[in-house]
Amino acid sequence: MSERWLAVFGANSDMAVACARRFACEGWSIHLASRDLAALERESANLTVRFGVNTAVHYFDAREYADHETCYRSMQPEPRGVLVAFGTMSGDVPELIAVNFTGAVNVLEIVAADFEKRGTGFIVGISSVAGDRGRQSNYLYGSAKAGFTAYLSGLRQRLYPHGIDVLTVKPGFTATKMTADLDLPVAMTATPAEVADAVWRSVGKRRHVLYVKAIWRLIMLGIIHVPECIFKRLRL
Ligand SMILES: NC(=O)c1ccc[n+]([C@@H]2O[C@H](COP(=O)([O-])OP(=O)(O)OC[C@H]3O[C@@H](n4cnc5c(N)ncnc54)[C@H](OP(=O)(O)O)[C@@H]3O)[C@@H](O)[C@H]2O)c1
Repeated sequence: MSERWLAVFGANSDMAVACARRFACEGWSIHLASRDLAALERESANLTVRFGVNTAVHYFDAREYADHETCYRSMQPEPRGVLVAFGTMSGDVPELIAVNFTGAVNVLEIVAADFEKRGTGFIVGISSVAGDRGRQSNYLYGSAKAGFTAYLSGLRQRLYPHGIDVLTVKPGFTATKMTADLDLPVAMTATPAEVADAVWRSVGKRRHVLYVKAIWRLIMLGIIHVPECIFKRLRL
């Protein structure tokens, strides 16, 4: 079988690292793209030593839209799958939208056009339950993720006739550096390895939306059905 390459944008995210290791463990070679090149090089060496796969490191900044195409084209051999994992909960309004929404959409439009032309591939986008309904505690981040979730839904429809799967991942609370300062309830919090296992089990299976811990599907089902006249009074 010819070599299978996965491209990971935001490859330094703790979830992305776990996903890359999960795929590498199954024999996939990995394109690692993000800003912190030293961290990427360390993980690249780790993947090669532990799993004996090939890797390549690429500089990628989600906010540098004009460079996305060049970065993607530099990924040789061409990837069979793409994971978009970068994200941020901090920064001002332009930063939150630029990274979590515009950057993700911009790079995936380039990937989608390529996969469409090649008639092959799968796409995994890490969105968030925060996008299921805007809440006062994180609605800027949440609205960017809501936009990303809607984007992935439209992309899934667009690419379906070409046999290309698009998986939306809603991890729920996950123990990563993003949430290191938060006191998260253990029972509702996934590990990056759990996210990676769930993603691995879902790709290529025509799954659409993945809630990593099933409890989050129920919680969000409840939250989206609370009438607005009650919802606006809650402090969620
Ligand atoms: N942790 C959670 O509870 C949780 C829950 C739901 C959804 N999510 C989403 O899941 C994804 C992964 O999150 P995580 O918790 O694994 O994150 P993380 O460990 O905090 O890592 C986030 C990564 O995003 C990258 N990043 C930030 N700004 C970037 C930019 N402008 N360009 C390129 N890369 C950039 C950083 O890369 P560099 O290190 O290279 O700068 C960083 O390593 C994110 O989309 C996040 O929004 C997280």
